[in-house]
Amino acid sequence: MLTGPFGYTGAYITQALLAEGVPVLGLTSRPQPSDMSSVTVVPCHWGAPVAGAESLRGAAILYNTYWVRFDRGTTTFELALSRIRMLLEAARTAGVARIVHVSVTNASVDSPLPYFRGKGLVGQIVQECGIPYSIVRPALAFGSGDILLNNIAWFLRRSPIFGVPDGGGFCVQPIAAEDLATLVLGQGQADGNQEVDAIGPETLTFWEIVRLISDAVDGSQWLLPVPDFMALAATHLAGLLTGDVVLTPDELVGLRMNLLTSNAAPQGAR
Ligand SMILES: NC(=O)c1ccc[n+]([C@@H]2O[C@H](COP(=O)([O-])OP(=O)(O)OC[C@H]3O[C@@H](n4cnc5c(N)ncnc54)[C@H](OP(=O)(O)O)[C@@H]3O)[C@@H](O)[C@H]2O)c1
Repeated sequence: MLTGPFGYTGAYITQALLAEGVPVLGLTSRPQPSDMSSVTVVPCHWGAPVAGAESLRGAAILYNTYWVRFDRGTTTFELALSRIRMLLEAARTAGVARIVHVSVTNASVDSPLPYFRGKGLVGQIVQECGIPYSIVRPALAFGSGDILLNNIAWFLRRSPIFGVPDGGGFCVQPIAAEDLATLVLGQGQADGNQEVDAIGPETLTFWEIVRLISDAVDGSQWLLPVPDFMALAATHLAGLLTGDVVLTPDELVGLRMNLLTSNAAPQGAR
């Protein structure tokens, strides 16, 4: 069973499982894409724990990618936390043998940032659920469909100038989404309880990342260090125009705190 089988990293995990010939049961609210018709979809039943256990029956491993990016309306970190608690209870009732939970680097119950604090709290629930587990903590997963890097590319394609918050000296250790999926699958076969950071071999400053994307787009953009408030004002305006949330203040703080880095050995090859 995989939550978010058609989400960004979830789709990579789905493809990797299908390539291994593993049948995938996917818990999602999204419509099924035509190229993933072999996934058996379980429409979300977050409100009905018993139905949840029935849905999970027969699943050997629960891969969990479910989480929210920020609080919006009634969809909050608190709600996501309670849903994961319910999901794990259902997994125990259904006799699931292993959980592979996708978290984030530097998840901590002591984090001042709700995203990272919430992930820390989920980690505690996983550790205490009584089922053998792996917690995989990616930094930034890059690949087709990634939000952060593709949003940067979107701006670079449309503007000759790109404002880099405070000169972009903070660091990120990206991992290829395919490598993350391979790691997640490997952890499904691991023994005992495991916690592993998922980072690639290179540490890049944010400035270097923007420069690489600019070169990939056409290299003509002028990168300009700007204060954080200016970068946030520009992304907020773009969000109003596109009806999306491009970058939240907390996401920028997380980047500035180097939270998408790790001292662990790289698990990804790219
Ligand atoms: N992308 C990265 O670079 C990155 C880096 C570090 C950690 N992570 C972690 O990796 C996991 C997967 O991330 P992703 O980027 O692949 O995320 P994603 O595609 O947005 O979502 C994955 C899952 O979360 C659910 N979800 C997301 N937003 C939701 C909302 N507002 N309301 C209800 N359900 C929502 C999706 O449900 P549906 O299937 O119903 O849509 C899906 O089950 C997350 O736990 C994330 O924190 C990602």
